[in-house]
Amino acid sequence: MTIALAWIDPARDPELYAGERRLRFEVLRRPLGMPEGSEENPAEARAEHLVAHDAGHVVGCVMFLADPDGQGGKLLQMAVAEARRGQDLGRTLVRELERHVAARGVAQVHMHARETAIGFYERLGYAVVGEPFTEVGLPHRLMRRDLTL
Ligand SMILES: CC(C)(COP(=O)(O)OP(=O)(O)OC[C@H]1O[C@@H](n2cnc3c(N)ncnc32)[C@H](O)[C@@H]1OP(=O)(O)O)[C@@H](O)C(=O)NCCC(=O)NCCS
Repeated sequence: MTIALAWIDPARDPELYAGERRLRFEVLRRPLGMPEGSEENPAEARAEHLVAHDAGHVVGCVMFLADPDGQGGKLLQMAVAEARRGQDLGRTLVRELERHVAARGVAQVHMHARETAIGFYERLGYAVVGEPFTEVGLPHRLMRRDLTL
């Protein structure tokens, strides 16, 4: 298994982007009974897209949306294919995202974490901030990590 990471531009990398969208649908939307297309995010065009692929087959992905002030940003649409979980791929994607944005001075990353993923983000140094809330019908918490510490 040779997995490559790639920051993609949806317009220039339509095949990898289609793979990313398919994975996001399969992992994040289909299990909730939501229809194809529901994986489309309002931030789709403004966000940065990182994929992990095995010879072009997308097996992991995450997006980053910078805050308007440029000091921080939101990690979103994090997904690893079921068959590839528990092999450090999620950690590799988050660490690459952090490296990439820290290089241009982003100091803080936050996300809306599904309750079932809180332990994963905690392993990577993120802390829960604030009260539970609901998104896509699931309990979530805001989590955050200061990249400068
Ligand atoms: C959550 C998810 C991205 C983790 O990806 P992964 O590739 O399996 O994670 P890794 O193998 O890199 O795990 C890194 C560490 O987190 C731990 N971990 C992984 N998933 C975890 C979870 N759901 N809860 C607690 N700990 C978890 C691993 O045991 C590992 O621990 P270690 O530091 O002792 O080695 C993946 O399970 C997934 O896509 N889940 C469904 C979609 C989802 O919930 N996305 C997040 C939405 S907010």
